[in-house]
Amino acid sequence: MTHFLDIHKTDAGELRRMLDHAAAMKTARAGRPKGMPDDESPLAGRMVALIFEKPSTRTRVSFDVGVRQMGGQTMVLSGNDMQLGHGETIADTARVLSRYVDMIMIRTFEETTLQEMADHATVPVINGLTNRTHPCQIMADILTIEEHRGPVAGKKVVWCGDGNNVCASFLHAAGQFGFDMVFTGPPTLDPEAEFIEGARAKGVSVEIERDPIRAVADADVVVADTWVSMHDSQTTKERRHNQLRAYQVNTDLMARAKPDALFMHCLPAHRGEEVTSEVMDGPNSVIFDEAENRLHAQKAIMRWCLGV
Ligand code: CP
Ligand code: NVA
Repeated sequence: MTHFLDIHKTDAGELRRMLDHAAAMKTARAGRPKGMPDDESPLAGRMVALIFEKPSTRTRVSFDVGVRQMGGQTMVLSGNDMQLGHGETIADTARVLSRYVDMIMIRTFEETTLQEMADHATVPVINGLTNRTHPCQIMADILTIEEHRGPVAGKKVVWCGDGNNVCASFLHAAGQFGFDMVFTGPPTLDPEAEFIEGARAKGVSVEIERDPIRAVADADVVVADTWVSMHDSQTTKERRHNQLRAYQVNTDLMARAKPDALFMHCLPAHRGEEVTSEVMDGPNSVIFDEAENRLHAQKAIMRWCLGV
């Protein structure tokens, strides 16, 4: 079974082929109305379940539209409305869903839920975000970087703020695509050592630099994300804001990076917190290209999973 669970678990050559495929599919339908199907219908006759145990705008809409453009059908399910949220095991849910649908995308809390779904499903399972990683986002982000700046290999990507799930998938991608990363944030919010060491083991540089100004020197890409993720307790909000305030991406910080450094954010953003509106709406920001590229990258991921 070909699951898409994480970037470091997927062969680097396959990841590259997926991105090339995504770019080709994007070009092929440029300028078409969003609801018009692609020329090919690789998902004709396929039913895809999209399960959300957390809120979503981009993941929900981009997967739904992507499946339809490729001729398939979707079913969007909320974890709470399913028996899954009321005691049915993940394993049994996976076995049952596999009798009805051809592929499962799940956004959940614990990584173990995703893994259990994958272990027991007899159809491909895609990670639509867990507390620990967000691989579909970073596939879209690499596509975006390469569209704007050419090959990502050898570039310097600086992550500002919380070493969270999105940061973890960026570190996975650094190892697989061969780019360097710098993390700048408070020591209490460092990415897990496993993610840092995993990237280093693949031969790329991962630095921790507490001073955000020093961190962004020569950066090709500066990335921010929310200071409080969906799985973080709201009781930690004030403490997180206090710890992270010094890592806000604003025009002063962007001025310390390369003049053409891209600003990226997976969204949703909190304007005036982790990033200012000036940067989000500024000339170096590619945030809405990133959002669009979720669609194209995920279409390639789904085709890879199904082998179509
Ligand atoms: N970036 C992202 O995954 O957005 P949603 O939470 O809206 O899906
Ligand atoms: N780090 C964020 C990403 C949202 C797409 C979260 O997990 O809430």
